[in-house]
Amino acid sequence: MKIAVFVSGRGSNLKAILDSPDLRSLIEVVSVVSNKASCQAFEIANSYNIKKCVIGSSYGCESYGELSDILIDLGVELIVLAGFLKLIPAEFINKFENRIINIHPALLPSFGGKGMYGINVHEAVFRSSAKVSGATVHFVDNKYDSGTIIAQHCVDISDVSSPGDIAAKVLEVEHQLLPEVLKAFANGKVQRLNNRVIIK
Ligand code: GRF
Repeated sequence: MKIAVFVSGRGSNLKAILDSPDLRSLIEVVSVVSNKASCQAFEIANSYNIKKCVIGSSYGCESYGELSDILIDLGVELIVLAGFLKLIPAEFINKFENRIINIHPALLPSFGGKGMYGINVHEAVFRSSAKVSGATVHFVDNKYDSGTIIAQHCVDISDVSSPGDIAAKVLEVEHQLLPEVLKAFANGKVQRLNNRVIIK
């Protein structure tokens, strides 16, 4: 299965996908797309010789329209948002209906929405005094973090002493969850049943 990974920063989830032994024979990352011409994730893309695209710049793609043409030409079957911080326009989402997923560093539908990214999420979870957090992979619609949930992993945070502690625990879980979900997609095991998404 050919995938494109959209990023804005560090790229540790991109790396987890690329390094997953389970995905080696199932997934090919054919493009890494970013809204930033310079980011750590692009260095990872370089080291794996993966085609890079920047949205809204003269280097790579200018617009979402051009980007969708490029991704279609590359044969992309699934788009993975892994730390991509921009809202994707409805027209682009419609073109890739049910083929764009996002990973969020909390248990949605709590602690999501506009402004809920990076450490902001973990600070909100810490302030709430919640005892579990985790990671969520969901389909992308035209609002932040609101599409149908595909899979979640929980992590016990009853013993943490800072938002940074939560971030570290959740990131570990993210690096397991995202490859697991991609494996399920590649094996055709992600299905919709009575408005719920299940992994068979
Ligand atoms: C992750 O926590 C992901 O859940 C969120 O943004 C972060 C990206 O981290 N959407 P990285 O760039 O994959 O290291």
